[in-house]
Amino acid sequence: MRSHYCGQVDESLLDQKITLCGWVNRRRDHGGVIFIDLRDREGLVQVVFDPDRAEVFATAERVRNEYVLQVKGRVRNRPAGTTNDNLRSGQVEVLGLELTVLNAAETPPFQLDETGVGEEKRLTYRYIDLRRPEMQQRLQLRAKATGFMRRYLEENGFLDIETPMLTKATPEGARDYLVPSRTHPGSFFALPQSPQLFKQLLMMSGMDRYFQFARCFRDEDLRADRQPEFTQLDIETSFMTQDQIMGMVEEMIRSMFKSLLSVELPAQFPHMTYEEAMFRFGSDKPDMRIPLEFVEVSDLMQAVEFKVFAAPAKDPDSRIVALRLPNGGDLSRKEIDDYTAFVGRYGAKGLAYIKINDLAAGLEGLQSPILKFLPEEVVKGILERTGAQTGDLIFFGADKAKVVNDAIGALRIKLGHDRKLLTSEWAALWVVDFPMFEYDDKDKRWVALHHPFTAPKCSPEELAANPGKALSIAYDMVLNGTEVGGGSVRIHRPEMQSAVFSLLGISKEEAEEKFGFLLNALKYGCPPHGGLAFGLDRLIMLMTGSQSIRDVMAFPKTQTAACPLTDAPAPVGLRQLRELNIRVKLPEKDGA
Ligand code: AMO
Ligand code: AMP
Repeated sequence: MRSHYCGQVDESLLDQKITLCGWVNRRRDHGGVIFIDLRDREGLVQVVFDPDRAEVFATAERVRNEYVLQVKGRVRNRPAGTTNDNLRSGQVEVLGLELTVLNAAETPPFQLDETGVGEEKRLTYRYIDLRRPEMQQRLQLRAKATGFMRRYLEENGFLDIETPMLTKATPEGARDYLVPSRTHPGSFFALPQSPQLFKQLLMMSGMDRYFQFARCFRDEDLRADRQPEFTQLDIETSFMTQDQIMGMVEEMIRSMFKSLLSVELPAQFPHMTYEEAMFRFGSDKPDMRIPLEFVEVSDLMQAVEFKVFAAPAKDPDSRIVALRLPNGGDLSRKEIDDYTAFVGRYGAKGLAYIKINDLAAGLEGLQSPILKFLPEEVVKGILERTGAQTGDLIFFGADKAKVVNDAIGALRIKLGHDRKLLTSEWAALWVVDFPMFEYDDKDKRWVALHHPFTAPKCSPEELAANPGKALSIAYDMVLNGTEVGGGSVRIHRPEMQSAVFSLLGISKEEAEEKFGFLLNALKYGCPPHGGLAFGLDRLIMLMTGSQSIRDVMAFPKTQTAACPLTDAPAPVGLRQLRELNIRVKLPEKDGA
């Protein structure tokens, strides 16, 4: 139906007769001449209709935005002064000789160039929203990226193998999406939170190198970088060490950034231990573009009586950190109040600060609501340790370590953006040496930090003796403060797997019931293996400079895990429920 894409028409086609198909982006009547910007996947071209050709002209007068047209016409230069350097087709236009309206369109619920359209509306009319050039470009880059990574992995001997969607619960820490079984009344499949156990079984099956663009389902609280249904580039290998696995996928990301974005990531991504990342940045996914760092000052506060610092200074589960903001002395009272409210969202009870108006003037040169509570040598110690300079401001966080890490970690990122401190466009990093377990204070038990199949760096005996200290062979790739991928070397011996289950409070019976198939498989010749999974949506979000992974998914869900386009989820009829042996009891309405 067409000879060229609209967006590819340029001077090379001068004087040629071409056929285009596309949507009316805009129609303008200009003193007897009609201009139509015709749009397709590749971009825009201007088509001109002249009143001399009365029939064609009459049709052109009828068309409205988003009509679908076929145009035959001749490519010619635009008159001097009317060219548009922002368009590939900007030096030329198409003189319309024939025009067919392939389809009319009602007035769209929003214009493609309209800003501030609500997300609910965008998702309801996603097929219109996706026509917007930035959405087209994002999905095109996504397709290029998956193509690139597929080729890279295939060239390195990886096999694309599918794993089941209807399966048993996979413990990645979220709630499961369940699917009732008609043939087994009262039983449910779980949709996979990841293909974790299947990819391990594939290694035990001798497949050696596996990958899959795998859909994962997690019923968890949603955020800008979390969707209930998302895509992983899932990878698993046999007989490769941690360094080899990390090196290989790092090279894949590096070469993809170079090829698709012309971005040179470093020849080797820096490695940082989990402990260091938490200590210096309060986060296991530090954004290394931001040149601000925690300075631990708990030890300086040991003898301080000021209530805000006294208790955390003596509590081993607490910390007190200073965060120096160079040239932060110009922050207004109002700005500091706003930052105080901001850290409040992360549980901080306040945000103490010291402004350094004049370092040389001693205490006189400082300005702070907490100065009167701090002995002079403590203040001196803080200034020295933070390297404070005249004009700086130092913030303080004092609380349980988790609160300080969350609150001051978030503040660090906010300050970095608000004050435009970013030192580079990209910062890639591996975070390594994660603890095996985390203690859940509420449930009074150990939980796996990664997942229960991750290999510890120690023997089963050492693990049992000191679970809190044990490190795992787990690694996360962090890009610009986002965890884009994570994985580990796996347990490949049944004794170790049983030891980990038992530390996690999973009884022999429960382990048998839930993971019996894995424990069995481990007994029949299991190779040492490991791998990782990239969050594809997050990677593409970063590569396209989008604010949310919803902007790089064709049909995402809303924040409340619904699809306004299809109205899913939806109630089902009684007959279907009966077949599934399910009776629905709706929660009672408030006040009912
Ligand atoms: P993990 O749970 O860390 O590991 O997931 C791997 C990567 O998937 C992305 N991700 C998400 N993206 C969007 N929405 C979500 N709800 C979501 N949850 C996770 C993140 C994360 O780094 N089976 C292991 C991998 C392995 O050990 O090989 C796993 O799933 O970018
Ligand atoms: P208050 O005595 O509660 O008025 O607090 C005195 C100063 O300490 C104020 O600037 C508070 O913002 C700050 N502050 C209070 N609690 C904390 C905390 N947990 N961490 C850091 N600063 C705090």
